[in-house]
Formats: sequence, C-alpha cells, structure tokens
Amino acid sequence: MSLTDDVARLRQEAFDEIGRADSPERLNQIQIKYLGRKGAVTAVLKGLKDLALDERKKVGAAANRVRAELEEQIKETLGKLSVAAAGDAFDYTLPGTAPRLGAIHIVNQVIDEACLIFQRMGFAIERGPDIETDYYNFEALNFPPDHPARDMQDTMFVEGNGVLRTHTTPVQARVLETQKPPIKAITPGLCFRNEAISTRSHVAFHQVDGFLVDEGVTMGDLKGALVAFCKAFFGEKVAIRFRPSFFPFTEPSAEVDVSCFLCDGKGCQVCKQTGWLEILGCGMIHPAVLEKAGHDPEKYTGYAFGIGMERPAMLKYRINDIRLFFNNDVRFLKQFC
Ligand code: DAH
Repeated sequence: MSLTDDVARLRQEAFDEIGRADSPERLNQIQIKYLGRKGAVTAVLKGLKDLALDERKKVGAAANRVRAELEEQIKETLGKLSVAAAGDAFDYTLPGTAPRLGAIHIVNQVIDEACLIFQRMGFAIERGPDIETDYYNFEALNFPPDHPARDMQDTMFVEGNGVLRTHTTPVQARVLETQKPPIKAITPGLCFRNEAISTRSHVAFHQVDGFLVDEGVTMGDLKGALVAFCKAFFGEKVAIRFRPSFFPFTEPSAEVDVSCFLCDGKGCQVCKQTGWLEILGCGMIHPAVLEKAGHDPEKYTGYAFGIGMERPAMLKYRINDIRLFFNNDVRFLKQFC
C-alpha cells in the first residue's frame, strides 16, 4: 500500500467519525486525533521530509487536501450541532409574543350601541349606497330644485349623475319604495359634505336615521321612541325637549335637545351654560315623501329622525376634536378598545 492510499484511508476514517460525532466535545477530540500536533494527518505531513521528491509532492498534496477537507467538515458539523443544541434549549414555558389585534373603531362602537337600542325597540336595520342619485338624496325627499343643500358648497358630486350622500335619509326613500307599511327601520351609515374641516366638522361623518310608517302614527309616538332612546343611550336622568325646525322631508319638523348629561342640566362649558345639547332632527314624514314612494298619505302617517353620531361620541368620551376619529392614530384609538 502506498502512502497516498494511507492518506485516503485516514480521510475515510476521519469522515466516518465526524459523521457519528454527537457533540462539540467529540468533534474537538476528532480534530486533535487527526489534525492536532500529534495527529495522524499531521504525522504524514511531518514525515514528508524523509520521502523522495516525487513521492513527497504527491503525498504532500494529498495530505494537505485532506487536512483542508477535514477542517471544513468539522466546522460545518459544529455549526449543525450548535443549531440543534439551540433548538433543544428552547424554553416552551416563556410567554409568547401576543399578536396585535384590531378592535372596533370608537365611532362604530357608539353606532352599534345606538342601533342595538333601536333594534330592541323593534327597528330593522336597512342600508343604502354611499354614492346616491340626485333623486334619492334630494328629490324623493321633497327638496325643491333650488334648495341650498343642492349647492356645490354643501354637496360633493360624483361624475355622471351621482352625489356622495349628504345624509342617510335617502335610504328611507329607498325602503319606502320597496316595502309596505308597517315599516319600522333605522338606516345607519357614512355621509359626506363639502365642509371646511375643523375641530367640530369634517367632510365625512356618520348618521343613524330612523322612521316608522303605519296607520295612525303620531308625534306622540315619535316623542316616546326618542325619550326611550335618549334614556337608554345617555342615562335615565336625561330630559329631552323639542324645538320647532324645518326639513323639506318632514312636516312638522323639530330639533331635539337632551339635558346636558355632563352637568345634569346645571350648565357647564360643554353645553355653553345652557344646560342643553342639540343631538338630532326629526318630524312627521311629509305627505309628499309618502306619496312619491307610492303610499296613500290619507291612510298612512309616519315619523322620522336623524342623529349625527360623532357629536354624541365626542360628548360621551370628552373628545375635543372630530378629526381624531379619522386620523387613525393608534395611540388615540387604542384608548377605546
Ligand atoms: N337628514 C337630516 C340632516 O342630515 C337629519 C334628519 C332630520 C333626518 C329629520 C330625518 C328627519 O330623518 O326626520 O340634517
């Protein structure tokens, strides 16, 4: 057997032992056994000087190659063993990293709360499109053609014949067209107006409208429903008052104030010392609205109301800037999770 064969055999032995090694300590021993000062491969290299030139070249090259290969193989195996060791060291009892969960936006929470109160009173929920036709947003609701709300100043128009709905009352017109009395529904949703953005107003906001159409519906029914809602929403102690007002789609029309629930009506900064907060518009559905939808106003009457939801949310949670609702700053939003 030649010396080169010996080197090849050493290589095979070493590789086998590295393959079986199960710890860094064992690898260290193998390293010493073959490549250490008194190691087997080192011995071959040391013995080169006694060889003839030809033999020296051949055996030297082979031994050097094997040394490099073994060093590489030991390094690689050491890497694998340390990964496995780290895997074993994993502490399964450590608390995990909790994923960040989303939550319902504060305005939607307030809307949900209002809807639930009306649902308990027997109102169904109806929805309509954010992009409306001029017909449902205005005409079906008895707005005369020259009504100022149709002005570019208030309404955002969409290419074609559309508008971004300026209130959710158009859903009332749509439902009236497709259902037969008795109809009792609320219509929550997003509305848009071309307003200057400030602490108190925004181009987008939410309303919950509601209405009831049946035989013999009176203003007394409207008052009963609104008192029940306000007590459930703002608290038992709250009082409400009606002030005459005007909307094209109701006659008579009123605006409703609740006694300030922050100072119990005594007068504070929020209610500007009046003791009252305006929260909604309402009235008896105009006969022209019923007639346009195909209902006989001699037979049926109805009431309707519309509540802007941002203002009660601001009052309830003492939020002083409406823009906070739309900026989506998580530091603000997560206070209401
Ligand atoms: N749509 C009105 C507004 O945006 C609010 C309103 C008033 C709705 C009276 C009604 C209502 O349904 O009967 O200002």
